[in-house]
Amino acid sequence: MSAAKLLLVAGLLASGAHASPIQQRSPYAVKDSHFVPSKWRQAAPAPATQTIDLRIAVKQNAFDDLERHLYEVSDPDHSRYGQHLSEHDVKKLVQPSDDSLTLVHEWLADNGIDTTHLSYSAAKDWIKVSLPVHRIESLLDTKYSVYRHEDGSETVRTHEWSLPVHLHEHIDTIQPTNSFFRSKPKAISLEVNKFAGTYSNEVTYHQDPNVTAICTPRGVTPLCMRTLYETIDYIPQSAGKNKMALANYLGETNNRSDTYLFLEKFRPEAKEAAYTFQFDVINNGSTSQEVVQTNIDIEGDLDVETMLAMGWPTPLTAYAVGGSPPFIPSNGTTENTNEPYLDWLQHVLSQSDDVLPQVVSTSYDDEEQTVPVSYAKRVCEDLAQLGARGVSVFYSSGDSGVGGDGSCVTNNGSGAKRFIPEFPSTCPYVTSVGATMDFKPEVVAYHSSGYASGGGFSDIFPRPAYQDKAVKAYLKTIGSRDAEYFNASGRAYPDLSAQGSYFSTVWNGTDTLVSGTSASCPLIAAIIALVNDALIAGGKPTLGFLNPWLYKKGYRAFTDITSGSAVGCSEIGDGKGFPSAIGWDPVSGVGTPRFRDIIHKLGVHGTWNHTGGFS
Ligand SMILES: *[C@@H]1O[C@H](CO)[C@@H](O)[C@H](O)[C@H]1NC(C)=O
Ligand SMILES: *[C@@H]1O[C@H](CO)[C@@H](O)[C@H](O)[C@H]1NC(C)=O
Ligand SMILES: *[C@@H]1O[C@H](CO)[C@@H](O)[C@H](O)[C@H]1NC(C)=O
Ligand SMILES: *[C@@H]1O[C@H](CO)[C@@H](O)[C@H](O)[C@H]1NC(C)=O
Ligand SMILES: *[C@@H]1O[C@H](CO)[C@@H](O)[C@H](O)[C@H]1NC(C)=O
Ligand SMILES: *[C@@H]1O[C@H](CO)[C@@H](O)[C@H](O)[C@H]1NC(C)=O
Ligand SMILES: *[C@@H]1O[C@H](CO)[C@@H](O)[C@H](O)[C@H]1NC(C)=O
Ligand SMILES: *[C@@H]1O[C@H](CO)[C@@H](O)[C@H](O)[C@H]1NC(C)=O
Repeated sequence: MSAAKLLLVAGLLASGAHASPIQQRSPYAVKDSHFVPSKWRQAAPAPATQTIDLRIAVKQNAFDDLERHLYEVSDPDHSRYGQHLSEHDVKKLVQPSDDSLTLVHEWLADNGIDTTHLSYSAAKDWIKVSLPVHRIESLLDTKYSVYRHEDGSETVRTHEWSLPVHLHEHIDTIQPTNSFFRSKPKAISLEVNKFAGTYSNEVTYHQDPNVTAICTPRGVTPLCMRTLYETIDYIPQSAGKNKMALANYLGETNNRSDTYLFLEKFRPEAKEAAYTFQFDVINNGSTSQEVVQTNIDIEGDLDVETMLAMGWPTPLTAYAVGGSPPFIPSNGTTENTNEPYLDWLQHVLSQSDDVLPQVVSTSYDDEEQTVPVSYAKRVCEDLAQLGARGVSVFYSSGDSGVGGDGSCVTNNGSGAKRFIPEFPSTCPYVTSVGATMDFKPEVVAYHSSGYASGGGFSDIFPRPAYQDKAVKAYLKTIGSRDAEYFNASGRAYPDLSAQGSYFSTVWNGTDTLVSGTSASCPLIAAIIALVNDALIAGGKPTLGFLNPWLYKKGYRAFTDITSGSAVGCSEIGDGKGFPSAIGWDPVSGVGTPRFRDIIHKLGVHGTWNHTGGFS
């Protein structure tokens, strides 16, 4: 690496001159290196002519300012609380400097790439360029391979890549390179049971809201959840101004016919919504209503049925995100190498303020250690833009407690045992949702099959100030328990929780029970959508990024979950992971919502059906 070159470039920038053409390639140095996660094995050389959609994250000009705005507008005690930023404001904060863009363009041109045909994100902070593998290998001084997951799926990646040294400070990350992230749907890995009993749905609406009489643990219905979380007699007033959304990945989609059958049975007044919710198709994502492949749409149906049954008549958008990476069985010609996650983010960030939904539920995640630090940070920073614009972004916390049994090993070649946190739940700018079960009292969700509500501490992101007090109090209660297996100063999750065990769904035309934090996530998102409905009706701003409010004030309107634990990593300690506790804990967060309490504490009354049981 050449220090002289660095100084020259720095000098040009400091003097305010335009970065004039850099005639020759400056020396390369490794920009990012990441261990290949243990479930992936190098299988074959990458096919040289396969095309990859490369995404270059150019350094944003003023992320620190954006973060400050985000925290100000999300802090209930700040004078700017609720004054969410516009698309225009955010774009101005995140657009790269002219110098950064010029230098990146010069480098691409220098490598024979026609820079007049690049595509850009709305703020120009992401550049997309499609190139065959062999040209990317030369551009990034790296070597791609086909990697095979132990489940048989494949992807084309490298573990390390380089950039000319003068570009290191102008580019945050480039993908797909060394990210092995593939946001798995959380319901898929779970138990799916055909339902054999009878639902307690015969209880007429608006009777005495007796949770014990209405709810059964095996076959949780919308009536049960609306009673338990107190939304049952709320009459929404702001549908249209208020919107909600869910995201589908990996070929999953939402079956309208299943949804109709479900709503007809469990929320008849909402059944037409099965045919009126909107798909927003990104990158040719699937909206197929025709073919049933084994297990496809279990996640998609669970998400759409839960959100419509709870949040109706709030209009729902289902993002159908294409570009599913692995899944293609092996012969060394893996077709798809894209990053569907970034496609979604850029699409949503480019939506205008009147189109953007106020809540988004995503029930897909992956181990944090499959993600290179540079990628995790940049994706997380981009999620902060949604928060700044007033979107509550929810992710399920994972279904394996502190980690899947037998796989709790650090991805750094040392073989050291470790709890395995999940991304994007570990991103401090999103709200992570854990799962509960049973009713009087609700406890942390756990099945003997191994399903347990996920929770833990990030190894990448430090603990944000908003959860300082809550997390410190929890750490005190557990003392030195399992202390060497997690970083106690990392961002801790989940932030809150909701039912996530044996939901009644209709899938493939049949009554089906589905469990997972996948269920809890759309459930919470829809309840928060109703809170936003009441806020809009009361002339107040919507909640936006929830966490600062949640940890400071909101938690008082949540029911604390104090029984159960984040069971997982049987090879570590007693295999019970983090125990729940009084107050916030990294298993159930601050607990489960009490809707009436939440909106009263926010200073609005809401419109209620007083002919019902609540008054
Ligand atoms: C609630 O329902 C349960 C089961 O049907 C019953 O035992 C209990 O008495 C009911 N409680 C109230 C307050 O009605
Ligand atoms: C979109 O997906 C459909 C169905 O998988 C496929 O037939 C079609 O070719 C795809 N279109 C593009 C532009 O990739
Ligand atoms: C879906 O339902 C059809 C008709 O009942 C059945 O033949 C098929 O096996 C089911 N598919 C799956 C994947 O269960
Ligand atoms: C790999 O699979 C593709 C698609 O099925 C096929 O076209 C190709 O011939 C196969 N290549 C080899 C080497 O088997
Ligand atoms: C790998 O990670 C473990 C646990 O986080 C740590 O103790 C160890 O020092 C690391 N080893 C290397 C080589 O980085
Ligand atoms: C623990 O996390 C903090 C904050 O993210 C970080 O600064 C520190 O280096 C981490 N410690 C270890 C041992 O990884
Ligand atoms: C949707 O469900 C109906 C039955 O409920 C079924 O006929 C159809 O094949 C399903 N489509 C998909 C993609 O699951
Ligand atoms: C209020 O509840 C009654 C009794 O359950 C029901 O008939 C009526 O349709 C409800 N009204 C509204 C506006 O939801």
